[in-house]
Amino acid sequence: MNMDQKGPRVIVALDYASAAEALAFAQRLDPKRCRVKVGKELFTVTGPALVEQLVARGFDVFLDLKYHDIPNTVASACKSAAALGVWMMNVHASGGRTMMQAAREALAGLSRPPKLIAVTVLTSLGAEDLRETGQMEAPQLLVERLARLAAASGMDGVVCSAQEASLLRRACGPAFCLVTPGIRLADAAQDDQKRIVTPQKAISDGADYLVVGRPITRAADPLAVLDRINADIAAALKSSAGKMSR
Ligand code: C5P
Repeated sequence: MNMDQKGPRVIVALDYASAAEALAFAQRLDPKRCRVKVGKELFTVTGPALVEQLVARGFDVFLDLKYHDIPNTVASACKSAAALGVWMMNVHASGGRTMMQAAREALAGLSRPPKLIAVTVLTSLGAEDLRETGQMEAPQLLVERLARLAAASGMDGVVCSAQEASLLRRACGPAFCLVTPGIRLADAAQDDQKRIVTPQKAISDGADYLVVGRPITRAADPLAVLDRINADIAAALKSSAGKMSR
């Protein structure tokens, strides 16, 4: 178990098609050892009730709906999501400064505001896809540009590939929250993730939270895999702390 001040670093992606499956799986998890993520597929099927049930069971919920709309609409959506008691939510940084600031303002005044993070560039988009949409900058430069804009617009952090973590840690400073999917244990199946990173590497490169789906959800013994990832994270944190104090 991670006993560092940030609490559990693993966010388990509950990528299920029904509330029953998601809740049955959550039953096998321990909120002290992980957080959970509800994305568009599950939320579209179950609506806010499932989020409230997970919160009631003691889970920190990352509501991964990637809002991208006019500022007023995104601000209202963020306010509604916060009312569900979620721990983290996200918007698209490409929605622009005014949209992100509106989202931030919508959460101002809450006693325990959720972490508000931004998506920079979807990792499914390559240079050619971006060019077709008129974004001529190299993907990595665009990621850095959008992460800096997110920071300047009051976001708490970004979702990024673990391979971008060290770059963004340098660009956006130590307090900026980096959430990284695409995590695999060294000996695990890659599934459809192309650029995978181990938990140790992601943490030592500066990631704060790791989104992990199938390596845990499809494991015969999910808690055993979670424990192994948590142990790897604890070792990486200890080794990073050792390096800092040297
Ligand atoms: O099963 P797996 O560990 O690949 O799941 C990763 C989770 O993170 C999924 O919910 C996926 O949608 C999400 N994600 C991702 N890559 C991104 C952004 C989000 O895999 N770039």
